[in-house]
Amino acid sequence: MIIDENTMSDSFIEKRLRSLETPEHARVLAIARKMEGVLNLSGGDPDFDTPEHIKEAAVGALRDGWTHYPVTYGMPALREAIAEYHGKYGVDWKPSEVIVTAGSGQSLYASMAGTINPGDEVVQLEPYYVAYHGLIEYLGAKEVPVPLLEEEGYRLDVEALKEGITPRTKMLILCNPSNPTGTVYTEEELAAVADLALENDLLILSDEVYNELIWDGRSHRSIAALPGMRERTIVSMSFSKTFAMTGWRLGYLIADESISSMIARMPIGYRVNTFVQMAGVAALTGPWRPVREMGEELDRRRRFFVPRLNEIDGVTCHMPEGSIFTFPSIRGLGVKSVDFCEALLKESRILVRPGVAFGQAGECHVRIPLIRPVETLERVASAIEDLADGLRG
Ligand SMILES: Cc1ncc(COP(=O)(O)O)c(C=O)c1O
Repeated sequence: MIIDENTMSDSFIEKRLRSLETPEHARVLAIARKMEGVLNLSGGDPDFDTPEHIKEAAVGALRDGWTHYPVTYGMPALREAIAEYHGKYGVDWKPSEVIVTAGSGQSLYASMAGTINPGDEVVQLEPYYVAYHGLIEYLGAKEVPVPLLEEEGYRLDVEALKEGITPRTKMLILCNPSNPTGTVYTEEELAAVADLALENDLLILSDEVYNELIWDGRSHRSIAALPGMRERTIVSMSFSKTFAMTGWRLGYLIADESISSMIARMPIGYRVNTFVQMAGVAALTGPWRPVREMGEELDRRRRFFVPRLNEIDGVTCHMPEGSIFTFPSIRGLGVKSVDFCEALLKESRILVRPGVAFGQAGECHVRIPLIRPVETLERVASAIEDLADGLRG
């Protein structure tokens, strides 16, 4: 038997898995694991509890005997509730075009594995949500990063995006609102992406998991709602952030039947727990007040934390427009992001993610989520201030 890197051999798997590692963050994480009492802000799990009516729906479902196998792509009640919910964003999806998944991690995997061939090019805006990078590599596709610049406020650069597109480009990933930059793309930016997608026959993977966490009077716009885009957009969604359901593992994707039927054929064990799906129905049908309250609290945190960071010499931070993250630049301190994070961990027992973990365009930044109360964020800001004082000497 001939084994080389192109066959399904150990070396193939090894190579794929190696490409998923993010050494920058791994180094800091390894140090954190050996320490006690670390404030872990390296992920995106907010401190909010799942609203009571959602928990009750799951408990009630179990008591009512919803303990058998669910149908494969999602319970009809949930697929209907999802399609109806998206109607408010101006896209008329059919319930049959929804595939319910175990979190949006699974929906991202299914969306890409069901549409991307090895060697295809996938364009993504950088800094990016790390999972995309791993998936592109894992599927043997070629990642084409298009940087978003701090000095441009992380806005879309249409010319740079055009340059990233070649005849081999199959997909463009759009994270809107963006993790980690907090950018909410405008109608004009979305229209420019849509034009490029139509001209170049591209699929758009639109990750909209922060669609309800947007501030300052902005409203979410799904690129799928733009003319001609319903047929070429896969919307990937999660209950994790909107409903404080990170531990429930409930997400979904929606795409035109021509695309969703391909994705449905992926042998990746769809069928999410029945009672979790019932809780999902309760989440979408409301009441929505808890979601609004979480958004307001995140807004308070953002309004406190960003100006506070900007008081620190050598640190600048854009006000995020949506999501749950801030992405301050530490360029003024003349230190690499991973070294900064290591020093912050060792001096203050605070773990945050170095910007370079989100791609080279994220270097000289750190990602700090708004997942703890103002008092904790003040502790973080003052630790950064002390570190910055020391670095400036
Ligand atoms: C942009 C983005 N997409 C998807 C996810 C995954 O969400 P989940 O797997 O909890 O549904 C996250 C989680 O942080 C995220 O930030």
